[in-house]
Amino acid sequence: MSFSLKNVISIKDFSKDDINFILKQAEEMEPVARSQKMSQTMAGKILGMMFYEPSTRTRLSFETSMKRLGGGVIGFAETGASSVTKGENLADTTRMVAEYADALVIRHNLEGAARYVSDIVDVPVINAGDGAGQHPTQTLLDLYTMKRVFGKIKGLNVALIGDLKYGRTVHSLSYALGMFGAKMSFVSPPELRMPQETLHDLKGANAVTQETNDINNVLDEVDVLYVTRIQKERFPDPEEYLRIKGAYLINSELLKGKDLIVMHPLPRVDEITPDVDDTKYGKYFEQAFYGVPVRMALLDALIKSFE
Ligand code: CP
Repeated sequence: MSFSLKNVISIKDFSKDDINFILKQAEEMEPVARSQKMSQTMAGKILGMMFYEPSTRTRLSFETSMKRLGGGVIGFAETGASSVTKGENLADTTRMVAEYADALVIRHNLEGAARYVSDIVDVPVINAGDGAGQHPTQTLLDLYTMKRVFGKIKGLNVALIGDLKYGRTVHSLSYALGMFGAKMSFVSPPELRMPQETLHDLKGANAVTQETNDINNVLDEVDVLYVTRIQKERFPDPEEYLRIKGAYLINSELLKGKDLIVMHPLPRVDEITPDVDDTKYGKYFEQAFYGVPVRMALLDALIKSFE
């Protein structure tokens, strides 16, 4: 197994070998992520963070990952604290951060922003979410979570629920699940269906998928309910958001007697009630923790291969 990528922009750029390599390395990183072992593999290296959109998990887990490996972190968590507010454009800002850092992490509201900046700079670029496009590092930790719980991904039956139109986590994840031979059910209101382009690509890759708007159609057959937030900030029409919000509610009553786990990339708003958190079903906080060993593995592979 090896890792062939210079940048991490879209999960579609990954081979199965690349993904398996990161998942395997993440296992090795877990004791370091849990502070049970020390590592200095990134000593002297700097990670540059450019967050044009808010984040809790992605930003803080990248920072934690770099620091657990002995490296340092620079950057901005919001543009208000940077010269973007003075009108500096994305290309110039990226060039500058790349002068100071050994790799860049960027989250941006525009789809394609990470790909664009990866063509401008020489250091590795990691897409931490580009609008409604892709969120490939989230997918890696999602796959890692499934593998930790079930010991496999192939043959799992996974329902992706909620905002499948604008949700970058489900766009990335569906490609990876298709690649690994998991079956998928897409559960959404008609207005938030998985984009036709993604459905077309998955069909071309012989992925097994079905679509429904009723969660009850899938509850008895799935291993994983992958729930997503209806994202207010992505709706061009606020009225449409108000009509659709609250379309799905996962609570312990709904899950009673079911043989499945509940995952969520987080943040949640009201789609999963807190009474699920400490049950055998709720895996979303554990899933968020796995962002650390997975991102440690990714940083280690990218930065070392660039040396
Ligand atoms: N899952 C995820 O991307 O969370 P944040 O928006 O908090 O980074």
